[in-house]
Amino acid sequence: MKEEILRYLIENKNTFISGEKISKKLNISRVAVWKYITALKEEGFVIDSVPNKGYMLVNNPIELHPLEIKKSLSTDFIGNNVYYFDSLDSTSKKAKEYYEENGAVVISEEQTQGKGRLGRAWCSPKYKGLWFSIVLTPKIEPQYAPKISHIAAAAVIKSLTEIGFKDVKCKWPNDILIKDKKVCGILTELSAELNMINYIIIGIGINVNLDKEDIPDDLKDKAFSLKLASGEEVNRKSLLVHILNNLEPLYKDFEDNMDIKSSLEICRKHSAVIGKEVYIINKGVSEKVEVMDIDSEGELIIKDCHGEIKSIISGEVSVRGLNGYI
Ligand code: BTN
Repeated sequence: MKEEILRYLIENKNTFISGEKISKKLNISRVAVWKYITALKEEGFVIDSVPNKGYMLVNNPIELHPLEIKKSLSTDFIGNNVYYFDSLDSTSKKAKEYYEENGAVVISEEQTQGKGRLGRAWCSPKYKGLWFSIVLTPKIEPQYAPKISHIAAAAVIKSLTEIGFKDVKCKWPNDILIKDKKVCGILTELSAELNMINYIIIGIGINVNLDKEDIPDDLKDKAFSLKLASGEEVNRKSLLVHILNNLEPLYKDFEDNMDIKSSLEICRKHSAVIGKEVYIINKGVSEKVEVMDIDSEGELIIKDCHGEIKSIISGEVSVRGLNGYI
């Protein structure tokens, strides 16, 4: 019921609605209306209450609230269910509880044990970033799962470009960089049987409004935030909505036609590694190679030091530039 009152207040934002009108619309007593409004205020919503006028939602500080997100989505299934938390250990861990809900999105304002690729930790300070995970249940064989990482990377690149960022690059398979420093990481986790995927969790972490002091010292030369890159605060809700809206058509192409052409075109166009010499690090062993291309399967085509051309599947490898991050 609290959600319904909130939805009604959001629909009538900046307009007073009387307690009587709310109570009639939702078929509850005026005392109940008052109780729910008090609970919403305690959650951080700024609601003006004026005798004889009623209630007005003045400001919704919780910009990532599911109702705010859902009303801006143009998707068929991604974001039909949005779960919002003030704090979680990891949105990807939580998302596993919703493994049957294709397209469910789990968002948290902070993560206390955010997970990065290759067992690393992911720093996720409160209200500063977008830390979210999406549940997908594609009817495909497990070997095709790595392709989903490219689709997610493409959706993030497209969205950052649409909201005005230039110089957005992708360090294969799916680190997103601005000015050659990482602003976004994507962790794709899979639960599968031999021939069948049970579910995939795409975890996306974006350093949106982190200030310099929010970035751990050991990452300062590699990590960046959108705010540091642009010099101004970035609207987290708008970015999240762009990503979910962009993700769905790219993902549908893949699910319906096994086609990731459009996603790969975006990743290639924004690649930070094609044409460069890099180190490929596999289980601690580092090899200097030249990156030739990304093929139609999303694999990295490299030329090794003997001039031999090979393809590399994402997964356990890391890519490092010869001088620094890339
Ligand atoms: C990387 O190492 O680059 C991947 C980082 C992925 C971080 C995101 S934040 C949301 C989701 N929940 C997690 O615990 N990790 C992912």
